This record gives sequence, structure tokens and C-alpha cells, in this order.
Amino acid sequence: MELKNIGVIGAGAMGSGIAQVSAVAGYDVVLQDIYSDALDRAKDTIEKSLGKMVSKGKMAKTDMGIALDRIKFTSVLEEACKDADLVVEAVFEDLELKQKMFKELETLCKPEAILGSNTSALPITEIASVTNRGDKIIGIHFMNPVPLMKGVEIIRGQLTSDETTEIALGYVKRLGKEPVMAVDFAGFIVSRLLDVLLNETVKLVQEGNRPEDIDKAMELCAGHPMGPCKLLDLVGAEIAMHGMETMERDFGDRYKPHPLLKKRVLAGLLGRKTGRGFYEY
Ligand code: CAA
Repeated sequence: MELKNIGVIGAGAMGSGIAQVSAVAGYDVVLQDIYSDALDRAKDTIEKSLGKMVSKGKMAKTDMGIALDRIKFTSVLEEACKDADLVVEAVFEDLELKQKMFKELETLCKPEAILGSNTSALPITEIASVTNRGDKIIGIHFMNPVPLMKGVEIIRGQLTSDETTEIALGYVKRLGKEPVMAVDFAGFIVSRLLDVLLNETVKLVQEGNRPEDIDKAMELCAGHPMGPCKLLDLVGAEIAMHGMETMERDFGDRYKPHPLLKKRVLAGLLGRKTGRGFYEY
């Protein structure tokens, strides 16, 4: 099946990035969110990101205009589903919410449409289990910031077909990104490793290390492009906490989120999205 129309559900940092890279690659995109202010923010973020690429000579101004014209913004789920060959779901990391969404997608999308989830940690088989379309459901896990990160995890659920996998791989490659196959257990590869690092980082802070020193250590001594405190602020503390909780549920206590991580989430110190995490934005 040739993909032409992409529906993206959820206009947060991930959904807007997915809509952006899909439009740049030539797909027609409908980005849906129930909140109109999220759609406004997404439009602004996409314009700024593409503008940056134009100013750096990575994209022609006319191509920016063409890409922007390819994205429609809507609060109506049906609009994002009715013509979609592929839907990428990027709503909040909550199993019940995602299952409810996939039930709706199943009824609103054409039978041959592929349904992808951008979940960072929830097993795809579990999301797909509430539908009768397991063969067409697959994990397509983009990394933050989507326009810059080259890798995308592809996760096959228990029932995902070879055809669905081939189509998802083709989509990711057309975006100019590199797909990486990961096995369908909580956290896949990236969150399984990164969330543990981020949880451990919170312990280091509690023990008295300064975020600046932790970041400096990991950037200069371990060659990380961005220290873990900056990374936790980028990803969002609640995302890392949710990843740990999912892994704790499936693999046991050693994945327990640190109490200080939970406290920081409760206090709204999520990072860039709330303007304050380990640093201020
Ligand atoms: N769109 C367009 N341009 C952007 C941009 C965006 N969204 N974000 C940043 N840029 C630009 C910057 O403005 C900058 O431009 P200039 O060079 O003109 O200043 C350029 O890209 C590079 O940015 P930085 O100066 O911040 O430099 P950097 O070399 O540190 O690169 C980075 C940034 C690619 C994010 C790098 O720090 C990095 O790889 N960090 C690690 C990120 C990571 O690990 N992501 C995965 C997190 S896990 C995840 O996402 C999964 C999940 O589900 C939670």
C-alpha cells in the first residue's frame, strides 16, 4: 500500500514533530488534538522549527511554505481518520486512554489503514488487545526533538503483520530517518535504558550533586550530547516516571521510580514544557 495521507493524534511536542517531518517528506497530514490551544502551539512550534531550518540553509523558503500547506489542524478526530492511510497516535502516556483511542481509531479509519502508536514504553500488544486489528497495529516511536533525531524505534506487537511492518519501515525511511527494530516489552530499547539513567540522575541530585555537575560529567566524561538533567527536562519528568512505572509493573521493584522523581512530577517540575525542571526555560 502506498501511503499518502497521515493522521497524527495529539499535538504535543511529539505529535507536532511527527506532523512536521511527515509534511516535509511530502505526505498530506491532518494533526488532531481536542484542545485548540495545543493546536495553536503546535502550529507555532512547527513554523519556528521550519524557520530555523530555512535560516540555517537546510531548507528552501518555498519548501517551508509547501510543507506548512500540507498540514491541516483540527479538533475533530474523524477529520484525521477518514482519509488516513496511516494514523500515528501521540496522546498522553496512559494505557486506558490509548486503548480507548485505538478503539475509536478502529471504527473511524478505513479497514486497510495502519494504526501506529508513538508510545515510549507501553507494550504494543497491550494497546492493540482491545481492537480486532492487531495485524495493522505497530509501534512507531519517534525521539524528542523529532525534527533532529535520526532514529525511530519500530515495535511489532504479537499480531503485527509483515506487511504492516514493511509499510512502517518505508514511512520512517521516507522521513529521512533510520528505523531500529525493538522487541515488544515495556520500555522497548530506548526508554528501558534512558529512563533508568534519568531515574538514577534524580538519586544523584538527592544525594547532593548539582544538576550542572551531573550534566558536565556526562557530557565531558561520557560523551553524551546532552547531560541527563537537561535530557530529563527535554523529555519531561512525567514521561520518565511513567516509563519507570510501566517497567516496574512488568519487571519488578528494581524499576521503581525514585520518590523525588514522583515529587517533582507532582510539583509540576516537568522540564521545558512547564518552564521549570532542573533548569528554568
Ligand atoms: N527544529 C529545528 N531546529 C532545532 C530544533 C527543532 N525542533 N531544536 C533545536 N534545533 C537547532 C538549534 O537551534 C541549533 O541550531 P544552531 O546550531 O543554529 O544554534 C541546532 O538545532 C542544534 O541544537 P543545539 O545547539 O541544542 O545543539 P546540539 O548539538 O546539542 O543538538 C540535540 C541538540 C540533537 C537535541 C542533541 O543535544 C541531542 O542529541 N540530545 C539528546 C536527545 C535525546 O537523547 N533524545 C531522545 C530522548 S528519549 C525520547 O525522546 C523518547 C521518549 O519517548 C521520551
